[in-house]
Amino acid sequence: MKSVFYTLWFFLISSSYSIAQESVFPSPKEYKKSSGNLQLEEILNVFGTDTNLRIALESLHERFENLNSIHVQFTNNKSKAVVFCVKNEDLSAESYQIQITDKIIQISYADYNGLYYSLLSISQLINEKKQINCAEISDMPRFSYRGTHLDCSRHFYTIPEIKNFIDELAALKINRFHWHLTDDQGWRIEIKKYPKLTTVGGFRDSTLIGHARNNPAQYDTTRYGGFYTQKEAKDLVEYCKNRGMTIVPEIELPGHARAALAAYPEMGCSGEFQPVASTWGVFQEVFCSKEQTLTFLKDILTEIMTVFPSETIHIGGDEVPKESWKKCAKCQLQKEKHTLKDEFELQAFIIHEMEMHLRANGRKLIGWDEILEGGLAENAQVMSWQGISGGIAAAKSGHYVVMTPGSHCYFDHYQSAHTNEQLSWGGFTPLSKVYSFEPVPEELTLKEKSFILGAQANLWTEYLPTIQNVEINAFPRIVALAEVLWCEKKKPYTEFVNSLVENYLPRLDKIGISYSKAVFDPDYSCVPTSKGIEIHLKSVLNNVQFKEDSVQLITISKKKLVQHFEISPSYKNDSIRKTHIELTSHLALGKSINYLTEPKEPYTFQKDFGLTNGIVGTKPWNGKQWIGFREDTIQFTIDLEKKTKFSSIEFSCLSENNSWIYLPKNYAVLSSTDGITYKVVNVSKWCGEKNRLSTHFKARYLRLVFYQNSLIPAGSPGEGFIPWTFIDEIIITK
Ligand code: ACM
Ligand code: ZN
Repeated sequence: MKSVFYTLWFFLISSSYSIAQESVFPSPKEYKKSSGNLQLEEILNVFGTDTNLRIALESLHERFENLNSIHVQFTNNKSKAVVFCVKNEDLSAESYQIQITDKIIQISYADYNGLYYSLLSISQLINEKKQINCAEISDMPRFSYRGTHLDCSRHFYTIPEIKNFIDELAALKINRFHWHLTDDQGWRIEIKKYPKLTTVGGFRDSTLIGHARNNPAQYDTTRYGGFYTQKEAKDLVEYCKNRGMTIVPEIELPGHARAALAAYPEMGCSGEFQPVASTWGVFQEVFCSKEQTLTFLKDILTEIMTVFPSETIHIGGDEVPKESWKKCAKCQLQKEKHTLKDEFELQAFIIHEMEMHLRANGRKLIGWDEILEGGLAENAQVMSWQGISGGIAAAKSGHYVVMTPGSHCYFDHYQSAHTNEQLSWGGFTPLSKVYSFEPVPEELTLKEKSFILGAQANLWTEYLPTIQNVEINAFPRIVALAEVLWCEKKKPYTEFVNSLVENYLPRLDKIGISYSKAVFDPDYSCVPTSKGIEIHLKSVLNNVQFKEDSVQLITISKKKLVQHFEISPSYKNDSIRKTHIELTSHLALGKSINYLTEPKEPYTFQKDFGLTNGIVGTKPWNGKQWIGFREDTIQFTIDLEKKTKFSSIEFSCLSENNSWIYLPKNYAVLSSTDGITYKVVNVSKWCGEKNRLSTHFKARYLRLVFYQNSLIPAGSPGEGFIPWTFIDEIIITK
């Protein structure tokens, strides 16, 4: 009985709490609840003298209708109003304060964004009965740049689809939309001076089917494409502005230029025609550095500046193979003329030219972190994607930075290992990882830290053909990033995620936005015991139940080497997707590993037993199961607990070069009986993905060594970086 009362009491407390502060995403800086509440009617009249108030209300009108069933409208009649808005220029940028009494709501705001955000927060505070708790709220963002990127080249989304997506981003107080408008697979923005960019470059004749790693590759034969007119783009600029958001347009140069070069081959080095790309990756064809091409690119940027008022214009700058420049007489002449040491300096020269052109027009250049190579242009801003090191280098040299490291901000990565995950590029970036992101590196001084403007989620869309696919990759991860970017002090992850599921996801259901269900998947771990393998089930969500007991014992049968197990969770009695586990039995099962080389987060799944937990790394790789390392040489020791006789050791490594994961070059096996002195059993070249050493011997300790010994080769994603090595599972058999 006691526990029933306790549960009821807890539920009442937590639910009243949840319809207040917890329902605002991202969380407000200060929320002080007082007693009582304000009962709203079906029409909510808002008074203010700011002419922009009407625009804010028009932009939020549909949202109030959909989420609150309230018709929100402007009034210039104070006696009719319930909400009163007053501008207060003493407040910091984008901030606002709200006072809610049982009669009125008073808002003071710094600027348009502050006003828009205060109204958004109010919409989120209203409960099902159209009531809002009396409270005082004071809110402001941690970072000034809170971005989301969308690649509209690899796949094309219509303006209404983008608007719908932007509405939800703006609701999370995201204030930059980085619009990736050009790439190898399609040029998407009208340029009046060069019409073929869209009439030719806007369409491809075929598209890769399935994943780029599939061998042989398959293609459809459907013409695919589209583009945005300048009129449509200007309309979207206005739409975003009314939602507190600036569009940062991106024109990729000098690489990722296949679509542009299909339209104007003369702007490349060879002048040879190549069609708009049908597959994904990095291509050798890039813009030439000759004067004619520089003028062409500057002309394009000039038109871009007439469409997009953004202070910063993104010029790409990433993944530029240098081979065509090396073979081009005109590029070599440019090198000589401008005393450039190598092709890296030639790339920097092109970027400098663009930077000067933008600066002469009162704009600023932003580019991917490769623009650091060969010397960073004056005033250029850096988008750090290859980790945070580019951002650190830029901040140290006094350049502004937007952090968008692949590790935390690439939303083309998988978000769970579930077999139902939609096809993605690779990588593993679950919600918790995004939430753990800290955009400001510790190692920077206070002054250097001030150069970190914020961070951005990147949505590359090779594998996202529809806007629903985009939404699933974006939501709810973007909510986690919005919290990171808005809140000075984040709440613990478990509080965030429970509140997200209770308060935010139902909102997406109501609006009709798709989202990933990964957050409902159970966390399971496999713990070896003397009786077998225990599968421990848990969930970060308070309201998830399992049909099964939370601990399941799987006895290992000598006969049955592979056993299957299914987890069937439910959330508030609604069944949610099942998780299937396949366990493989072998001699090293559950034996502990001593890592001489530490695996690297987040690829440390079940770290201590990850390589011996009976769960064999599979393909397609969804980010889990495999243990990831990022060193030249990887070493670890398995303790078999007693001297054991066996005849084979099998180990698999993953080859996913697009995700920077490479097979090792060689491996070695050493054995020991005391764990101190080791003797070499075998040293071999690595072949294929799976290697097996067949040899009869006895040992208690086995040391395995994997040698990478080279950096990622030129022309491949991650060129020049240490590759990842992914290993699983170490299978030892009698
Ligand atoms: C990038 O992901 N190539 C910026
Ligand atoms: Zn050239």
